[in-house]
Amino acid sequence: MDEAIGKIREEFKKELLLASSSTQVEQLKTKFLGKKGPIQELMRSLKDYSKEERPKVGQLINVLKEEVSTHCQRSFEDLLLKEEKIKLESQKVDVSMPGKKNFRGRYHPIRQILNHILSIFKEMGFSVQYSPNIDSDFYNFESLNFEDDHPARDMQDTFYLSKEMLLRTHTSNMQARLMQKQKPPIRVVCPGKAFRNEDISARSHVFFHQVEGFYIDKNVTFADLISTLNSFFNKFFGQKIKMRFRSSYFPFVEPGLEADIECLVCSAKGCPICKNTGWLEVVGAGMIHPNVLKAGKIDPEQHSGYAWGLGVERLQMLLNNISDIRMFTQNDARFLSQF
Ligand code: DAH
Repeated sequence: MDEAIGKIREEFKKELLLASSSTQVEQLKTKFLGKKGPIQELMRSLKDYSKEERPKVGQLINVLKEEVSTHCQRSFEDLLLKEEKIKLESQKVDVSMPGKKNFRGRYHPIRQILNHILSIFKEMGFSVQYSPNIDSDFYNFESLNFEDDHPARDMQDTFYLSKEMLLRTHTSNMQARLMQKQKPPIRVVCPGKAFRNEDISARSHVFFHQVEGFYIDKNVTFADLISTLNSFFNKFFGQKIKMRFRSSYFPFVEPGLEADIECLVCSAKGCPICKNTGWLEVVGAGMIHPNVLKAGKIDPEQHSGYAWGLGVERLQMLLNNISDIRMFTQNDARFLSQF
C-alpha cells in the first residue's frame, strides 16, 4: 500500500506543477479525488485488508486525500488571484491618456475654392445657377456662335456621346439656356465641371472646373466688365491685384479678352510658375456677341452684356503653389488633409 500511495503522490505533484490555470487545477482535483480517481480506488481496496490493518491503511489514504485537497485549494487560489490581476490590469483606465481624435471631414480643395469664389460673386449681386454636364451641341456650341467647322467641335477635343449630345467642354453652355428662361437684367454665375478629350499631364486634365458668369442689362459696357473682374480678384486674394487685359478671340464674345494678374509667387519678378513673364492668365471674357443674345431670345438692340469663364483648378494651384493638376483627382489623403 505504501508504494501505491507514494506513486499517486508523485504523479499528483508532477501534474500539479504543470497546471497553469485555476481551471486546470480544478480538473486535476476531480481527476485525483473524484469517484473514478485513484484515491477512491484505494478506498475501495480497503475491504481486502484484514480488520487490524484497515484503520492504519485507511488513515494513510486519508492523509493523502487531505494533502491532495489542500494543495489543490492553495494552488487554485493562487492562480485565480493571478488571473484576476491580469484581467484587472487589462481593464485599467489610464485617465491621463489623451483622447482619441475624431476624424473631421472636410471639403475637397476644389470645393473650398469654389465656395470662396461663389461667396464673392453672391456678395456682388450674382445668383448661382447650374447647367447640365451632358448637353446638346446646340447649347455647347451652336448657340455660342461656333461656326460649323470650328476646331473645338473636332472629335479630338470633345467627348461626343452621340451625334447631337456631348459632355460640355465649358460652362458657357449655360448662357443661351438661362437667357431663354429669364428676362434681363440677368446676373448669374454657373460653377461646374468641363470635359475635354486631352492628354492628362501636370497642366491639363480631361475634366476640370470653371465658373462662368454673365450680366445682361440695358447699357452694360466693357468698363463694367473690367471693374467687375478687378474687384473680384481683389476680393479673392484679399489684396489689391494688378491686372492686365489682352485682346483675344472667343466666338461668343466681341470684343474678347484674356486677363492676367501679376504673378504673386515671384511678385512679378519672373519665375517658373509665370514662365518668367511676371503675369498669370486667369480668365477669358468679353462682351456677349449679338448672335448669342439672339440664340437666347434677347434683343441685342435693347440689351448688352458681358461674360467670363475662369478656371478653378488654376486659381487653387496659384493660391497654394500646387504644381500638378492631377493631385486633385488622386484622392491622396496626405494631399487633401493639408486643406
Ligand atoms: N469658355 C471659355 C473656355 O472654356 C472661357 C470663356 C471665355 C468664357 C470668354 C466666357 C468668355 O464666358 O466670355 O475657355
